[in-house]
Amino acid sequence: NPKIVIAIDGHSSCGKSTVAKELAKALGYIYLDSGAMYRAVTLFALKNGLAANGQVNEPELIARLPEITIEFRLNPASRQNETYLNGENVEEEIRRLPVSTHVSPVATIREVREATVKQQQAMGKNKGIVMDGRDIGTAVFPEAELKIFMTASPEVRAQRRYDELIGKGQQVSFEEILHNVEERDRIDSGREVSPLRKADDALILDNSYLNRDEQLDWALQKAREVI
Ligand code: C5P
Repeated sequence: NPKIVIAIDGHSSCGKSTVAKELAKALGYIYLDSGAMYRAVTLFALKNGLAANGQVNEPELIARLPEITIEFRLNPASRQNETYLNGENVEEEIRRLPVSTHVSPVATIREVREATVKQQQAMGKNKGIVMDGRDIGTAVFPEAELKIFMTASPEVRAQRRYDELIGKGQQVSFEEILHNVEERDRIDSGREVSPLRKADDALILDNSYLNRDEQLDWALQKAREVI
């Protein structure tokens, strides 16, 4: 069977990566987390004093983009790809709240998006890939054979993210997580360059009331209809 590109876009914290990972595994495809790239750029900005208190020094970050190398390397133990920033494993650090609160402003920067999109397109050029993000079906792979747009209510999404972070031992409140989820949606949907929106030919998956298995079954069936 010919391999296809599967684009999964949607709002923050609605379980895109879980569905994308499981779908990739079931199909023997590569999984690529495009959000991890924006998170890695954001971590670089935070570490170099180019972002703080919700503000980003855009011109300086743009000037220093050539210093940033992002890679994904397979962790043989977990069999998952992990994110590396300039040779350092940052998989855990990029999921923390300081990165989450600065990533959407960073992701509005045109030059940042140009660099990350180029790398995403290169990684998907041989197809056989499931990529999740905000603009995969609209900007990165507008020709993707299968596009899925995922969503769920903000409260459901915040509760899941809260449970996940508490489970990892992070000290967070439900209110700050809900605020972060809503704020990222607002910035992601309102930005000028490749705003978050459903591609016209994307299928909607509202998973407010679906468990993991039901979501995977739904996505696998849609994939098999195309492959
Ligand atoms: O998917 P995740 O929540 O980890 O993405 C973090 C942030 O990166 C999003 O809130 C969004 O601002 C940005 N992003 C983006 N385009 C993508 C993926 C993520 O702008 N394709």
